[in-house]
Amino acid sequence: MTDALAEPRIRIDDRLNGSAGDEIAVEVRDGLSRSPLRELPPKLFYDAYGSELFDRITQLPEYYPTRCERSILNRRAPEVVSTTRAEELVELGSGSASKTRALLFAMAGSGRLRRYVPVDVSAEPVERCADELCKTYPGLEVHALIGDFHRDLEHLPDGNRRLFAFLGGTIGNLFPHERVEFLGGLAELMDPDDRLLLGTDLVKEVDVLEAAYDDADGVTAEFNRNALRVVNRELGADFQIERFEHRAFFDPDEAWIEMRLRSLDDVVVNVPGAGIEVPFDAGDEIRTEISAKFTPDRVDGELAASGLALDELWTDDEDRFAVSLSSVASP
Ligand code: SAH
Ligand code: TRP
Repeated sequence: MTDALAEPRIRIDDRLNGSAGDEIAVEVRDGLSRSPLRELPPKLFYDAYGSELFDRITQLPEYYPTRCERSILNRRAPEVVSTTRAEELVELGSGSASKTRALLFAMAGSGRLRRYVPVDVSAEPVERCADELCKTYPGLEVHALIGDFHRDLEHLPDGNRRLFAFLGGTIGNLFPHERVEFLGGLAELMDPDDRLLLGTDLVKEVDVLEAAYDDADGVTAEFNRNALRVVNRELGADFQIERFEHRAFFDPDEAWIEMRLRSLDDVVVNVPGAGIEVPFDAGDEIRTEISAKFTPDRVDGELAASGLALDELWTDDEDRFAVSLSSVASP
């Protein structure tokens, strides 16, 4: 545990601490050796520059999820806070926490806001917002966990009446088997008084979906290619970033958007830090991320399969996005 910042109400618990490098090497080696489709782990997107690009994505006209989720949270935050009587907000993949403010504001209004616990692999946005939130809410404690939400949740501080928030549709970036495992782990960690607030993007017209992941200004393309930039920096690789083309398409059978990078050349890429050389034919692709799209029934079903019971599910006016509230199912 380090108290990295001067503000005594902020604690930063950094669980990545140097170990991140070795782990990235293993994940990149496994992913790029896969056949027929190579893969890269999505958390690679989010270095400081990637987190900045993601914030720009959330402001694009094509990227409806942030706007829709924000409208739901702004409308429902008072209800969430009064029904859960939450004292503590634990946010997984918090990033710059722009939508979370509605929840914190409502908690402060109820006189019960004690602690905010952001969890993210990207330290910069978390540190920045910890500072800002302490200034806005005198008395608020921030206990940040810099780490991987697949692995490091055991390091969360104990708490009472916790509201776990997993927003942005980030649950959809996990494969179905990872989702059950992840939600099941969360259910085990939750007390009967805790609640999960989960943001899920919904199935809709394909052109709306695809535009959200392939914007006209190319910000998403730049974000996607950032994964290669991070591999170059972290593992000494020699990807020629501009020679990989961004692709995003909806797969109706899987009900997910798939993000890929397609090599424009026949090329062999060296990745010394992962001990591999990766041959590409022109047209070969790397899958960098999926983003699953749900129906309300599917949200209900996946929660139930993980030991969670759906209490409420709200959508925005256009039914584009859903936010649900659930608790640990009674045995
Ligand atoms: N919650 C914010 C950000 C969503 S983007 C919003 O709704 O706008 C996804 C966030 O999850 C990023 O901040 C990224 O750094 C973080 N993230 C991605 N993979 C992660 C992992 N394995 N462990 C912890 N955080 C992760
Ligand atoms: N959680 C976001 C989503 O699935 C992540 C995201 C948005 C993303 N745009 C992206 C990931 C583009 C990769 C590429 O909507």
